Amino acid sequence: MDNRETFGSRFAVIMAMAGSAIGLGNIWRFPYIVGQGGGSAFIIVYLISTLVISLPIFLSEAVIGRKTHKGTFGAMQQLAPGTPWRWLGLLTVVSPLIILSYYSVVGGWSVEFLFKALTLGFSTGNEAEITGFFGSFISSPWGPLACHTVFLGICALIVVAGVKKGIETFSTWTMPVLFVLIVFIMIYALTLPGSGAGVDYLLKPDFSKLTASAVASAMGQSFFSLSLGVGTILTYASYVHKDENLLGSGIGTAGFDLLFALIAGFAVMPAVFAAGIEPAAGPGLVFETLPYIFAKMGASTPWLSALVSILFFLTILVAAVSSAISMLEVGVAYLVEEKHFTRGKAVAVLFVGCWLLGALCSLSFGPLAGVKIFGETLFSFCDKLTSNFLMAFGGLLFTIFAGWRMDRADVRDELRAGKAFRVLYFLIRFVAPAAIVLIFLTNLFL
Ligand code: PFF
Repeated sequence: MDNRETFGSRFAVIMAMAGSAIGLGNIWRFPYIVGQGGGSAFIIVYLISTLVISLPIFLSEAVIGRKTHKGTFGAMQQLAPGTPWRWLGLLTVVSPLIILSYYSVVGGWSVEFLFKALTLGFSTGNEAEITGFFGSFISSPWGPLACHTVFLGICALIVVAGVKKGIETFSTWTMPVLFVLIVFIMIYALTLPGSGAGVDYLLKPDFSKLTASAVASAMGQSFFSLSLGVGTILTYASYVHKDENLLGSGIGTAGFDLLFALIAGFAVMPAVFAAGIEPAAGPGLVFETLPYIFAKMGASTPWLSALVSILFFLTILVAAVSSAISMLEVGVAYLVEEKHFTRGKAVAVLFVGCWLLGALCSLSFGPLAGVKIFGETLFSFCDKLTSNFLMAFGGLLFTIFAGWRMDRADVRDELRAGKAFRVLYFLIRFVAPAAIVLIFLTNLFL
């Protein structure tokens, strides 16, 4: 296995993979779609989707990565040389870099909001001005560009330091801290008067809301949340030592990711309901609704508002960085292994490429708002292309590859799942691919 770096321990593997998984998706999407989709009824569907679809895709990627100890392209070349599978290798080098470009724009917003929290902008500001701040900030050209540069720069510095010194060190230190932070924010939110309505929103089972499209969105969210289908898990698994148990890492990562999403839900929604606001999804939830709540809180207890707003935006920033570095690493692994770049040069080249695409995405909230691709701004086009299409497509192909193209014995040796192997192999070969096709069709027709 030459002198390729490996993660130092099982804990490091899970923290790095959980770092990739835990991100903006957990904080601004999960809480909202749980409430929309029928509370605990939705959570049950989400759990089942994670077990029967996402975990098999996760394991497919992990098996391919660990078997070859190569990045996505190299893995395909080694296991299926001279076949069209190389295109899957290439696709999954490109798709995480597209995600990284626009993810970094949002990561940049969290840099600005953390800065504003640190300078007491939320705790001492006026509510109306704070609610309007987000809209005027993202549509101005320079501020978001500067923040996008800072965010991508932080990711580049971590990745250039290497798999062990950079990614592993960052993830093993920040993930536990992130967990403590979000638990603290949750406890605070749950003590607010009126927060019970937020808990009801998340937990009250309502099977009438559990429509076909809610089921499809549970599957899609579980998929996005575990960073599947774009080669990040494959690439991280290629740094996992042969003795490590992949199934254990998969279950650990999925469990931590779900736990974090649930706690984030209990941190965000009770606060939203306590303030008497209708919950929104996406950027509006964390960059408009919550600052408004912080401002309201600041009127009576400025120090508490300052503390909670700082911790909250710090949590978002760290969660976004730990996801973004996994996307960057996929491209770096490709350039280093296949094109023989040094790590520094690979990071520099990808920094420039992602910075440019990200800059255009950032400007699509302002000066370039009129430029449309298939009726979407560049930012939203990149988002939809990757999260609705490329991730599912990549996930489908990875399961087909592991289930039908790889040697069964290799898959078994990598998984080392004992008696559970037959069930897992069945999920990889039949259930997961069929379910992904079903999500596609549901999204297409609904
Ligand atoms: N899992 C991340 C989140 O929930 O925010 C998003 C993500 C990370 C998607 C890494 C894709 C990826 F390669």
